[in-house]
Amino acid sequence: MPYCSGMRKLAELDIKKIESLIVTSRENPIDPNTFIPWGTPLSADFEFMPQTLFSLHGHKLFNSLTNEQKRELAKAEVGQAMYSYGWSEGLACLFFYRYLVSLNDNASAEYRYLLVEIFEETCHQQMFSRSIETLGIKTIPPRPLHRFAGWFSTRFLPSDIVFMSVLAIEIVTDMYGAELMRQPKIYPVLSKIALLHNIEESRHMEFAEILLEHYTKGAGPVRRTIYSIVVCLNIYFMRTLYVRKEILTRIGLDPKIYYKPAYKGLKQKFSVHCLGKAIDFVSKWGGFNWFTKIIWRKLLDAKI
Ligand SMILES: [Fe+2]
Ligand SMILES: [Fe+2]
Repeated sequence: MPYCSGMRKLAELDIKKIESLIVTSRENPIDPNTFIPWGTPLSADFEFMPQTLFSLHGHKLFNSLTNEQKRELAKAEVGQAMYSYGWSEGLACLFFYRYLVSLNDNASAEYRYLLVEIFEETCHQQMFSRSIETLGIKTIPPRPLHRFAGWFSTRFLPSDIVFMSVLAIEIVTDMYGAELMRQPKIYPVLSKIALLHNIEESRHMEFAEILLEHYTKGAGPVRRTIYSIVVCLNIYFMRTLYVRKEILTRIGLDPKIYYKPAYKGLKQKFSVHCLGKAIDFVSKWGGFNWFTKIIWRKLLDAKI
C-alpha cells in the first residue's frame, strides 16, 4: 500500500512536533523581500563563492584566469546553485501537491504543515530567481537527463522515495549554505539567502524525518539499500548542475582544458564540505553496506 493512502497514522508525539513546527513558522515569518539586502552593489569588496566550494580554486590552472574571469566564474557557479535549488524546489512542490490531494483529512497537522512548506518553498523560489537577476548572470538549465529524472520521480515514484529525495537535497543545500556563510567577505545578498534558507529548511528537514522515521526504522536491507542510493543519486544530480561547459566558454575558457579539473575540483570539495550531514543521516538507519559504499564513493567521492 503506498505511503500516501493514509497507511500510517502518525503517533501523538509526532503530531505534537509537527504542530510546533507550524507554530514556529507562523510566529516567525521571514520575508525575503525585506530580510535580504537586495540593493547591495556588486562591488569588488565582495566574494561570490567561498574558496572551499569554488571548482577551480587550488588547481594550478586557477592562476591562468584573469581576476575578471575568476569573478565571473564564481558568480556563475553560485548562480547555478541558486538555479538548481529553485528548480528542485519547484519539483518538490509538484510532488507535495500530489501527496496533499491524496490525504483525506485536510485539517490534520500533516496537511497543514505541507501547506506551510509549499508556501515557504514558493518564497524560496522567488528568492533564488531574484538572486540570479541580482547577480546579473544567465544560468544554464538542467540537462535532459536531469529533467527526465525530475519529471519521472515527482509523478511516478512512491511517496517515501520522493520524500527521501527532497530531504537529501535539503540536507546538502543546508551544508552548502553554511559553507557560503562561513566566507567572511561573501556578498551579503548570498549570505542572507543562505541564512533564511537554513532557518526554514531545518524545519522542513525535521518534518521529512518525522514522516520517514517509520520507513527507515522498519526497513530491511533491500529497502535501506534503495533509500541510500536514492539519497546518493539526488546529491549527485544536484552537484552535477553546478559546473557546466557552457559557463567556461562564455567567460573565454576552453572547456577542453578547464572542464575536467573544474568538475573534479567541485566533486572533491563537495565531498569534504557538503556531505557530512547526509552521511550521518544515512548511517543513522544503516544505509551503508559494501554495495552502497561503492556507489557513494564512486559518484560522490564520499569518505565512508
Ligand atoms: Fe527551500
Ligand atoms: Fe524545504
